[in-house]
Amino acid sequence: MNLTEKILELKKEKNAVILAHYYQRDEIQQVADHIGDSLALAQIAAKCDCDILVMCGVNFMGETAKILSPRKKVLLPDNTAGCSLADSCNAVDLQKFKEKYPGYTVISYVNTTAEVKALTDIVVTSSNARQIVESMPAGEKIIFGPDRNLGNYIKGVTGRDMVIWDGACHVHEQFSAAGIKELKEKNPDAEVLAHPECNRSVLDVADVVGSTAALLKHSVSSPSVKFIVATEPGILFEMKNRCPGKEFIPAPSEEGGCACNICSYMKQNTLEKLYEALEYERYEVTLPEELRAKAEVPIRRMLEISEKLKL
Ligand code: 13P
Ligand code: SF4
Repeated sequence: MNLTEKILELKKEKNAVILAHYYQRDEIQQVADHIGDSLALAQIAAKCDCDILVMCGVNFMGETAKILSPRKKVLLPDNTAGCSLADSCNAVDLQKFKEKYPGYTVISYVNTTAEVKALTDIVVTSSNARQIVESMPAGEKIIFGPDRNLGNYIKGVTGRDMVIWDGACHVHEQFSAAGIKELKEKNPDAEVLAHPECNRSVLDVADVVGSTAALLKHSVSSPSVKFIVATEPGILFEMKNRCPGKEFIPAPSEEGGCACNICSYMKQNTLEKLYEALEYERYEVTLPEELRAKAEVPIRRMLEISEKLKL
């Protein structure tokens, strides 16, 4: 039996479900029960019926799944898979920041620790941040964190009163606007797709700005047959699956011509580690109940608003 066959057998035997983010390695996306962006994975984790949930993503995704499904055994194939964006905001500093802005509503991106979520009023993902900010009463004062690029983008499109945390994702910040422009000149028929975690200069040269799921949806519905993609290249796996015959070019990074905007944290998970996670039931995500319950409130608010808005 090969690894994939062993994983499928163990999954059945243990009543397990495998979730994988679009930035996971192709072979992991291939064996997963569900693939999706951060919002979809949280929605599935909240609802799916199983004893074991294996989250192929990074630590904050495992925590989010555990917060929403406390009775399930939630496993991460590699529990050292962090996130530079989540690391850019710790709870002690956020608490001090909140004290500087009394009366502000705290909106945090899902790419945060459980401790930060516990200090948050509403969690958002890149798929629903705009709609959730717009659903706030006019005049609401908002603290938005930790991604400054997403925050500034949302502030720009909504015109809302927002103070923005100064954090960023090192992967999305790497894309080069000049390199994308050059590539576009060579491929004038290509549409430029960019994730809102990218710098302003990259968003300015993009034809479409959206979450991973929104960019994927656009690539399917657009009449264009060529795309320059400024987000983690793991998404190309599903774009190619859903759009046979279309061409996807990974956007270049500041480092040079190579498409090296790969999230090394996301790629820490391998098929071997996924197999071991199921076989040895490791690495289990655990959270103190008080923290879990506090962090659940702003995530549930996000899920409720998203359901109402059919997101
Ligand atoms: P989405 O899954 O919301 O598109 O976010 C991208 C990301 O960087 C996940 O870590
Ligand atoms: Fe974090 Fe960026 Fe990697 Fe997403 S792509 S997990 S935001 S470091």
